[in-house]
Amino acid sequence: MYDFAPDAALEPVERYRQLCEAADALTADEPDAVANMANVAALMWEFIPDLNWAGFYRIAPSKLGSDELVLGPFVGRPACIRIPLGTGVCGAAASHGQTQLVEDVHAFPGHIACDAASRSELVVPVMRQSSVVAVIDLDSPSPARFTQADADGIERLAAIISDRI
Ligand code: SME
Repeated sequence: MYDFAPDAALEPVERYRQLCEAADALTADEPDAVANMANVAALMWEFIPDLNWAGFYRIAPSKLGSDELVLGPFVGRPACIRIPLGTGVCGAAASHGQTQLVEDVHAFPGHIACDAASRSELVVPVMRQSSVVAVIDLDSPSPARFTQADADGIERLAAIISDRI
């Protein structure tokens, strides 16, 4: 049994240090990408307060052969399955290879509402050898929930797992 019990009062830096340590330990010796993404989604859900969705979209071929984002393991409500590169917050993160920290999703052009409760969003690309292979997506029901500390923490997490998903 894995029992990670983050203290509710943890400061973000310590919260993300513990999250990264737990994710590193759980994925280090496991070659299965789905298992690793599933456990990392569950860890983000446990460690990061005030979320309504936490998970992955992976770069994968579309039916026409070009790349797009395809839903991966997550915690939350059922979500859009395929997102074209450049569309929505996830598509922007994937096509630019840059973290998107969105304080108000309704003000983001092309935002895709998978859960009407979402008010703010953080999407971090997972890079492998300079290419985006996936994005980590966090949604919150609170406006402006995410800060630079959250972006820094999730970018560290993405770097730790990039060869394991
Ligand atoms: N809101 C995202 C879509 C994914 S869901 O939030 C799970 C976007 O605009 O790309």
